[in-house]
Amino acid sequence: MSRRLRHARRPRPATHEAEAVLHALRTHQVDAIVGDRHVMLVRLIRAETDLERTRDQLRALAAGLESQRENERAEIAREIHDELGQSLTSLQLGLAWLARTMTPTRPVRAKLDAMSALVTSTIQSVRQVAVRLRPGPLDELGLVKTLRAEARAFKVNTGIPCVFETNLRNVTCDRAASIAVFRIVQAALTNVARHAQASRAVIGLMRRRNNLVVTVKDNGRGIARTQVARPGACGVTGMRERALSLDGTLTLEGSRRTGTTLTVRIPSSQVLISRSTALAQ
Ligand SMILES: Nc1ncnc2c1ncn2[C@@H]1O[C@H](COP(=O)(O)OP(=O)(O)OP(=O)(O)O)[C@@H](O)[C@H]1O
Ligand SMILES: [Mg+2]
Repeated sequence: MSRRLRHARRPRPATHEAEAVLHALRTHQVDAIVGDRHVMLVRLIRAETDLERTRDQLRALAAGLESQRENERAEIAREIHDELGQSLTSLQLGLAWLARTMTPTRPVRAKLDAMSALVTSTIQSVRQVAVRLRPGPLDELGLVKTLRAEARAFKVNTGIPCVFETNLRNVTCDRAASIAVFRIVQAALTNVARHAQASRAVIGLMRRRNNLVVTVKDNGRGIARTQVARPGACGVTGMRERALSLDGTLTLEGSRRTGTTLTVRIPSSQVLISRSTALAQ
């Protein structure tokens, strides 16, 4: 039997049957596609949730390490202040005793005076190191007054005039967040002193809508992108990590004409606890 005849004799399916088959096929395909998409979507959502959880864990870890670091710094500051400070004071007293009890020749007296002056300046340096290690004034003065004092100290230590501007009044700041902001400002001021060749600096702490905006501006030589990305420069990286730990952002911009501006934006809910007067600034 020819192929053509065989085909002609086969009963053709009724139209509605064909449609039913087609429909079933399509539905099956659509189901398969929808099923695939659904699986992909579920996987994507799960991956995003995992990523978010990992990010939260990393932030919690960074915050834990940070507070551990602050505690260690406070302990080192205490030891430097108490142990080293005590020893140096004993040394100074010993030199004074020598000068009193001996009748030294002129060169010996000059040597004793020089040693005594050296010990005095070392005691001052030790105090400064201890103060820098410990964000102590923060607990007593609060963030606003501490930053104002930091601006004054910067001027005294570097000779570069530095002003502090704020629109914050009667606020209470979270301690860990205050330490982070204080450390960012400290590191930024160190950069101004070391790199900027500036003749003026301004620290800003402003509440703008729902953000707390911290700025450190100078009128120095500006900054290039390549300098910020220099391998081994930990300062900016550390500042950025502190900002991130408070859900904030950090930008560093500058030009030869305008100097450099560091800006940190943090949601105010991370820093400002309330407008109460309990620890008013
Ligand atoms: N205010 C500034 N003016 C000009 N250049 C700056 C300023 N701040 C930072 N820089 C440039 O950005 C670079 C990176 O700064 P960063 O604080 O990360 O590192 P660093 O100060 O060199 O070293 P450290 O790790 O000790 O802080 C600096 O080396 C400097 O070239
Ligand atoms: Mg630096």
